[in-house]
Amino acid sequence: MTSKERFKIATRAMLSDVFDSDSIDEGLAFSLDIIMGALEGEAGAYWMLSAKRDRIFPVSSKCPADITNMSMRIGTGIAGAVVSSQESVLIPDSSSSIITPLPEDYLGLNAVSVICVPIVNNKEVIGCLEIVNKKDGSLFTAEDVEMCEHLANLSTITMDDKGFFDIAEEKKDILISITDLKKDYENGETKLHVLKGLNLNIYKNEFLVILGESGCGKSTLMNIIGGMDTLTSGHVSIEGRDISHLSEHDLTEYRRDYLGFVFQSYNLMPNLTALENIRYIAELVDHPMRPEDAIAKVNLTSKADFYPGQMSGGQQQRVSIARAIVKNPRLILADEPTAALDYQTSIEVLSVIEDVVKNNGTTIVMITHNPQIAKMADRVVTLRNGVVANIKRNLEPVSATDLVW
Ligand SMILES: Nc1ncnc2c1ncn2[C@@H]1O[C@H](COP(=O)(O)OP(=O)(O)O)[C@@H](O)[C@H]1O
Ligand SMILES: [Mg+2]
Repeated sequence: MTSKERFKIATRAMLSDVFDSDSIDEGLAFSLDIIMGALEGEAGAYWMLSAKRDRIFPVSSKCPADITNMSMRIGTGIAGAVVSSQESVLIPDSSSSIITPLPEDYLGLNAVSVICVPIVNNKEVIGCLEIVNKKDGSLFTAEDVEMCEHLANLSTITMDDKGFFDIAEEKKDILISITDLKKDYENGETKLHVLKGLNLNIYKNEFLVILGESGCGKSTLMNIIGGMDTLTSGHVSIEGRDISHLSEHDLTEYRRDYLGFVFQSYNLMPNLTALENIRYIAELVDHPMRPEDAIAKVNLTSKADFYPGQMSGGQQQRVSIARAIVKNPRLILADEPTAALDYQTSIEVLSVIEDVVKNNGTTIVMITHNPQIAKMADRVVTLRNGVVANIKRNLEPVSATDLVW
């Protein structure tokens, strides 16, 4: 396909997908996809100007590194320079650049060829779009810059009136940091490389959703974070403490003191009532919530004395959420918690999860394969080929009761 043909397709996509998008989050993610497709770019990021207009921060990115928490003073780096000078930059080849290595290595790859164009709305620069490296190893040209400018302009025109200026800069503390995580499964002679050098930060009190096709390694990642599976190489640390090589004893403590788990299957003890299931876990930990408060949080006080067999699937899942929160954990890991539930019951369970994030200060990492559910999250991470393919920050998370599928 010629670049003209790719440009035509991208223009059409911009006028349909981005124009039809329901939110600025969706619009930004679509237009990043479209522009990277048109330029055959390897990595890319949308940067937005902060409310104080002194820094830029990434709102949508597709790159090997997790840059969510980065921010740059305007004037620094290529992206920062583009926002302050309000002019596009083309660095066709890093070897001819006076700055080497290019600062764009922060995207998690060796930056060779870079395009960065300002994003203008109502004649004001509000951010920039940066594309790094051509997938086929060739170099960006002036023609590519022109195409990028056209498409970036088109994207802002189509997203005009969608609240660009309300984006607030937010700096969060890291709870879990995952670096260069690799996981192989040995299957007799063959090795299955499931995670291939994954990088991700998880922030305190965020609602993170992990999306990805079946078999791409979502549960593997969660099991490693949860201390239930070992890693092949790399590091996972929680509040600076490396948990990748803990003893069995320390791992048990970590799981008990830091984590709450919610799975697709509820795993309640059938011979204990709802409240007893919760109390049983509360008695194992040092600083539990009152079991009665935990069951109230999931709106099941009236069913406290029911046995699991007497409750619906959604109610049992709510008990299992109460069992996770009663520990007052730092982090709740939820692996497809609504996969076995119908729509209405899923919404009830998701509302409870939403409430826990908002009102308990808990961090939640939730796996789902339903992109609609991802709209609830603060950030959405998509896994592909064993690495993070895409991170999207939802500037306008949707409330559980407004989700439709
Ligand atoms: N214990 C295991 N031994 C061997 N292969 C495994 C094991 N657990 C998972 N796998 C394989 O690893 C891949 C990723 O699995 P998983 O993390 O469960 O995917 P997801 O949760 O995204 O559907 C799959 O191909 C799966 O078959
Ligand atoms: Mg899974």
